[in-house]
Amino acid sequence: MATIAIDTRRRIDAIDPNIYGNFIEHLGRCIYGGVYDPGSPLSDERGFRKDVMEAVQRLRVPNLRWPGGNFVSGYHWMDGIGSKENRPRRMELAWHTVETNQFGTDEFIEYCRAVGTEPFICVNMGSGTMDEAQNWVEYCNGSEDTYYANLRRQNGHEEPYGVKQWGLGNEVSGSWQIGHKEADEYARAALEFAKVMKWVDPNIQLIACGSCHQDADDMTFNRVVVEKLIDIAEYLSIHMYVNNRDDNYYEYMGTSEHIEKYIRAVRGIIDGAVYHSRHGKKMKIAFDEWNATYSFPHEHPHHQRYTLEDALVVGMFLNAFIRHADAIKIANMAQLVNVIPPIFTSPEDMFLQTIFYPLELYTCENGTVALDAYCDCETFETKRYGKVPYLDVSASFEPDRNRISISVINRHLTDTIPVTIENQHGGLADKGTLFEINGEDIKTVNDFKEKGNVVTQKREINVPSNPFVLELPPHSISMVQAFLNVTM
Ligand code: AHR
Repeated sequence: MATIAIDTRRRIDAIDPNIYGNFIEHLGRCIYGGVYDPGSPLSDERGFRKDVMEAVQRLRVPNLRWPGGNFVSGYHWMDGIGSKENRPRRMELAWHTVETNQFGTDEFIEYCRAVGTEPFICVNMGSGTMDEAQNWVEYCNGSEDTYYANLRRQNGHEEPYGVKQWGLGNEVSGSWQIGHKEADEYARAALEFAKVMKWVDPNIQLIACGSCHQDADDMTFNRVVVEKLIDIAEYLSIHMYVNNRDDNYYEYMGTSEHIEKYIRAVRGIIDGAVYHSRHGKKMKIAFDEWNATYSFPHEHPHHQRYTLEDALVVGMFLNAFIRHADAIKIANMAQLVNVIPPIFTSPEDMFLQTIFYPLELYTCENGTVALDAYCDCETFETKRYGKVPYLDVSASFEPDRNRISISVINRHLTDTIPVTIENQHGGLADKGTLFEINGEDIKTVNDFKEKGNVVTQKREINVPSNPFVLELPPHSISMVQAFLNVTM
């Protein structure tokens, strides 16, 4: 029998809703054909796909990162404003395509307003200049009688957009990036970009670009960037993509160890730099690209279908973000629609992939304060990570509703695991709710013709005692919600 114990006094930190963010890039059919499809009978008068917007609203996306990704390192934002007929068609070198610039800053902000999310703009630190970044902040946020603020007004937008989150480039450490830079080179440039951007609007928050992978060089890159930018940038961006290309279920299920170790290592770098920083301000982590992924659209035009096992891995990312709620304050699943996506469209239809469901569940149902859950259970053996517990757990609390939520992934391929759940401080009310994501087997997918193979099931449960026992089916994500019966 496994055990999970929580105590509402054992709090990690407030969970920042921004950890449930998402990302759209000018890549494949993410924007053109996903978000924006003018002329489609499924789109509104602005060209926004209505079915996609409905799905996005279900995800309650708190912030949306744009325009890239690798794309941003060759993007000049002035190409994407003003009358659409006059916008240039450009050769696009990140993904070797043509960028029509029909979707630019004003369309992005309008989309954010339409789906109720905050814009997060990443600036071009590849081929872009400091002036461009500075002017982009002014175009979006300027309130005075100045050139770029007036340009926004001329384009029909009197009020400043008030964009808060600004990324200082994307994956600059990667040799594939347009304008790739070594750590020192990037950190020096980013400091200067940061200065002018904050001089234009001191209220913005900056996300410095950290590593795209997790090897030793990437860690050095992170260290240099953190040390140089800790006094000016609020966040360090890190990325992680994982996959089961080897088709080894239990190795893939060990991904939680990879995520966990990496987060701890990055936290260590930040802690070290805080110790020496001028004002001791703690940089936070923006995990602003993460997902399971197999191929990008240029490699594989039909895209992958996500399986149930990928959904479990998405749950593991989310559990890790909750367990590190004191360090991770932004995270963005990559990407929202059609490119390694939770939402997938055709010209006539749309379906929700398996990975949509854990993201929706955590965003909508998790508590607001992360708890430090105790878990004891059996383990499985992996080559890469050694012994890994069958259960991957996070817990949260919502003080306003006196409600705890415990999210557990049972990674056992065949066995149901009974678990004793104990609230160690106070009692539990007799009714609770159980959400469960599961499917026939780990390779189950959703598709246009079979949209509901993997979805979230919800049911009311009895909580007869404290502790109580819950049966966790194999290869499943369960979130149990219970109410405390005393006021804490
Ligand atoms: O999300 C797809 C790509 O993955 C992004 O453009 C890039 O930042 C990352 O390598």
